Amino acid sequence: MTVLTETMTLNNDILIPQVGFGTWQIPDGDVAYQAVSAALAAGYRHIDTAYVYGNERSVGQAIKDSGIPRSELFVTSKLPAEVKDPTAVRDYFDQTLANLGLDYLDLYLIHAPWPWREAGTRYDKANTAVWQQLEELYEGGAARAIGVSNFDVHDLQNLLDTTTVVPAVDQIQYYIGFTEPKITAFAKAHGILIEAYSPLATGGLLQNPAVAGIAAHYGVTTSQLALRYVLQTGALPLPKATSKAHIEANTQLAFTISAKDMAALDAMPDAAAGKSHNPTQG
Ligand SMILES: NC(=O)c1ccc[n+]([C@@H]2O[C@H](COP(=O)([O-])OP(=O)(O)OC[C@H]3O[C@@H](n4cnc5c(N)ncnc54)[C@H](OP(=O)(O)O)[C@@H]3O)[C@@H](O)[C@H]2O)c1
Repeated sequence: MTVLTETMTLNNDILIPQVGFGTWQIPDGDVAYQAVSAALAAGYRHIDTAYVYGNERSVGQAIKDSGIPRSELFVTSKLPAEVKDPTAVRDYFDQTLANLGLDYLDLYLIHAPWPWREAGTRYDKANTAVWQQLEELYEGGAARAIGVSNFDVHDLQNLLDTTTVVPAVDQIQYYIGFTEPKITAFAKAHGILIEAYSPLATGGLLQNPAVAGIAAHYGVTTSQLALRYVLQTGALPLPKATSKAHIEANTQLAFTISAKDMAALDAMPDAAAGKSHNPTQG
């Protein structure tokens, strides 16, 4: 076990490697293939992708060529945010499986509670109907766990009130100074794991002098400090990198941030001021 492959436990007792490799904005083809291959070689066993990233084929090819047994990998993908017609869910899911060359997913998420162009609009009834389709995928064994992304407290409560399976995760934007405390507290109270997307604020926090100052105490980089911070808050970081050096550096997380420094990091304002947020985040 390494710091990457130590596990957290989902609310259905499935184990999930506590650091996932993010693949948003990694172009399909050789770039995505090389990045995922490097991540697997560096020890990542959890890969986060999505239908809309357009790179599932290259991600799947890298997984296949790695030779790593399927049972040792944890693969997440997502139903596009725009798909709010429940009759379309199965086709998207099957297309994702075909793209990845897999016969099941470890985790399948609703990418967002609203189509991106209507961010903030409530889609309660549609989310219920779509979630019931994910429940069928879960109950049939095609997805070992199901969850959501970008859901706020209202969206989570809607599913809890109207459906049977409690989401295993809510994947939200989460980094130093932007940890979405209301959603995080609600998720924790209901056994929903927070997955931290953009744990480096899509690179936006890497130049933050206050974060860099704390990182220097530990002889680590700003990126390593930011990822370790997420882990120590109990959330699961999903760092993305295309550079092999970054991919490898982000595996070096076996140090401990002191309680005093965690408190200082908890109290920081948004470490990437200017980073855009969904209207329902905060
Ligand atoms: N569910 C959603 O709606 C949603 C939304 C956003 C993200 N996500 C997930 O979360 C993942 C991560 O979020 P993100 O893509 O926004 O990015 P991120 O992980 O917050 O930051 C990635 C950026 O940081 C750079 N970087 C990474 N490691 C570094 C290091 N050690 N030193 C210096 N720079 C480093 C990368 O550079 P290089 O690429 O040049 O190496 C890239 O520019 C996504 O890939 C995706 O899987 C999900």
